[in-house]
Amino acid sequence: MAHQWRGVIREYAERLPVTEATKVITLGEGGTPLVHAQKLSELTGSEVYLKVEGMNPTGSFKDRGMTMAMTAAVEAGAKAVVCASTGNTSASAAAYATAAGLKCAVLVPEGKISMGKLSQAIAHGATLLQVDGNFDNCLDIARKLGEAYPVFLVNSVNPARIQGQKTGAFEVVDSLGDAPDIHVLPVGNAGNITAYWKGYKEYSAPFETANGTLPAVSTKTPVMWGFQAAGAAPFVAGHPITEPDTIATAIRIGNPASWETAVAARDESGGLIEAVTDDEILAAHRWLSAKEGVFVEPGSAAGVAGLIKKHAAGEVPSGKTIVITVTGHGLKDPQWALRTEDGSDVQPVKVPNDVVTVAAELGLEEN
Ligand code: F0G
Repeated sequence: MAHQWRGVIREYAERLPVTEATKVITLGEGGTPLVHAQKLSELTGSEVYLKVEGMNPTGSFKDRGMTMAMTAAVEAGAKAVVCASTGNTSASAAAYATAAGLKCAVLVPEGKISMGKLSQAIAHGATLLQVDGNFDNCLDIARKLGEAYPVFLVNSVNPARIQGQKTGAFEVVDSLGDAPDIHVLPVGNAGNITAYWKGYKEYSAPFETANGTLPAVSTKTPVMWGFQAAGAAPFVAGHPITEPDTIATAIRIGNPASWETAVAARDESGGLIEAVTDDEILAAHRWLSAKEGVFVEPGSAAGVAGLIKKHAAGEVPSGKTIVITVTGHGLKDPQWALRTEDGSDVQPVKVPNDVVTVAAELGLEEN
């Protein structure tokens, strides 16, 4: 029988703070592919999988949280929502606000968000303001607006966002049949590492619902490995960074909102949060597109960069199951694919409208 994925709220309703009366705002998010990464598996001797979150409706994992946040906004009777963003949250908020019939305002750091994300927010009719400051400054303003003005905050400081995003962990376990040994992901504002850890913990123990107790689904929880960009690595420094800097604009964040919960995820799981350089991020970005067939945006490659780096240091165990969340689609920020390793631009070869010349250019000989 035909079955269409119904979005994360309906698929996981009994594990989310919704009731039968809740009006669900959804664009069909979640149900993203868990792709076996052949070359990373060969490299490490472990089974490595990619949770490809670029396949969500607006092209990033943010949609999992936004369906919950926008549903909560409607439930609260909000007329308008606001968020600060490095780009993906604003794209997602703008789309889901449209689906909910709400006004949406987004605050982004001037000049530091990719064209793809900017165009999404505009296309969906959000009011977009470019703030003369970084993401952390934008979030400060968004929080103050949420407190003192009639707008509903949909950043991940809103617990509804974390609730929605925890479904990423549920899907991984549902696909593999158990939790992986290691879960790797990029860390920026630290909502996602918080959400995955919450999801893995909830799936590994009996879970109380309004209609009774659900049994544990997994037998264990993974070790959480988070990776930050070296120029924006407050967890590695142990304190906020006032001038974060990286080409991976998605994770250009110096003062993560979910600080304590990310540290808890790291420590309770026996994991780590480390840094990778921009060059390592771009090398991983190329690895994913050229060796695995998966196109992501640079920030999304930070987890893969981390795994490759840990492997080079002899610190990745073999014979394990490893899942890496690749968080956003490559088309969000495609310019990086058009750059060669030495930094020059890729120039497509031009040919005349003629099959013999095209065949010669391709190195083909006639049968
Ligand atoms: N990867 C991508 C593609 C992101 O857009 C973000 C965060 C992260 C990773 C980090 O996730 O913040 O939960 O630790 N982007 C936010 C935004 C900040 O505004 O779109 P996190």
